[in-house]
Amino acid sequence: MAAVGSAVGLGNIWRFPYICGKYGGGAFIIAYLAFVFLLGSVLMMAEFIIGRRSQHTPVLAFRALCPDKKGWGLVGVIGIITSFIILSHYLVLSGWTTGYIWHSVSGALSALGTDADAITAFFSQFTSAVGSPLLFLGIFSVLCLIIILCGVQKGIENISKLLMPLLVILILVLCVRSITLPNAKAGVDYILAPAFSKLTGEGILAALGQALFSLSVGMGVMIVYGSYIPANDNIFKTAMWITVCDTLIALLASLAIFPAVFSCGLDPAGGPGLVFCVLPNVFNSMGGTGVFFSSLFFILLMVAALTSSISLLEALTAWFCEHTGASRKMSAILFFALTSIIGVFISLSMGVLNDFKILGYTIFDLVDRLESIYLPPLCALGTIIFFGWVMPEKDIKDELSNHGSIAINVTYPLLRFLARYIAPLGLLIVLISGILS
Ligand code: PHE
Repeated sequence: MAAVGSAVGLGNIWRFPYICGKYGGGAFIIAYLAFVFLLGSVLMMAEFIIGRRSQHTPVLAFRALCPDKKGWGLVGVIGIITSFIILSHYLVLSGWTTGYIWHSVSGALSALGTDADAITAFFSQFTSAVGSPLLFLGIFSVLCLIIILCGVQKGIENISKLLMPLLVILILVLCVRSITLPNAKAGVDYILAPAFSKLTGEGILAALGQALFSLSVGMGVMIVYGSYIPANDNIFKTAMWITVCDTLIALLASLAIFPAVFSCGLDPAGGPGLVFCVLPNVFNSMGGTGVFFSSLFFILLMVAALTSSISLLEALTAWFCEHTGASRKMSAILFFALTSIIGVFISLSMGVLNDFKILGYTIFDLVDRLESIYLPPLCALGTIIFFGWVMPEKDIKDELSNHGSIAINVTYPLLRFLARYIAPLGLLIVLISGILS
């Protein structure tokens, strides 16, 4: 459940629809599904197995499993850097979500009615300002820190078990509302009638990056979680269950978003603000109950963001403690402080630092690309080559079969084939073609 909490987050509800909108709707979804099941789920199993077998955090895990090939630890280093970047960005987005709880409860969002332009302008004013996004970034970070320092992760897990199904139910309600809006059919067509022409090389790379980001693989987080998986848990089933849940939620989210996008006359390629600009329209079209649904939705989204942030921090903290012997509390404070500081610059790049560009990108866009389309595929490639070609076969068989107590005559050959050939080749082709295009 903790791994589901890590996987299901802003990636499913904020990121998936906006990337999907940018790269052609249905065509993107087909590429995404292929990556999720042929690469993402395989990587998740690989990371779980590497973590549980080695009982280490990313860098030492690779080294411990192949002591004579210590260089593989570099893959773990890329993972840790990626987790750090993601957490910095994630805090900013979670801050937006927290801010939208406030704006829902205070009635500021409902006051905008169903005027799509006013709602979009509200979003850009909010995110490009200096004070309020930083305030909400701070509130969210402090909340995470309190949860971790008070040792109530278990409590959060229990709350999530209750709240996450509620989030799914609410998304289903939104789907119904969205599909019954005027002119919603165009949005459903957008998802169901694939526009392959929009799926460029970069789009395919984005689908891959999104699949990895959404499943929280390709950054070592699942290696850390794998090291916590009890010895008698079935890794294959666990990974498949997480993959299916995560994917269904992303698909449902897009079914809630796109019909409404077309109904409000917005642009499906509207960028990172898509969810924040579309959903208030849907809530406001619900009349008096809109404020309630809007507040509830953003609270649930914040909880989803919380469990993902905690997993990222867990990976960073566990890694740092293992290498330096520092206490967990000190490490957690250190990483929250560092990522929040970077988060401040990411947030300001939506407004006052908008003209500050690195390689032609604002800090926000650069981080967004680094955390999805460049670093995770690289780390994933290293992980899967290590898993398929370097790690001793016996270790894999032992972990997959729980030392012989589960039959693996189908799962092992399948996993081995995907991990040795399909996944690395797919990753290589997509990485190279994406970078060239
Ligand atoms: N999977 C999370 C999401 O979809 C994001 C995340 C990425 C969390 C990597 C942990 C590690 O929002």
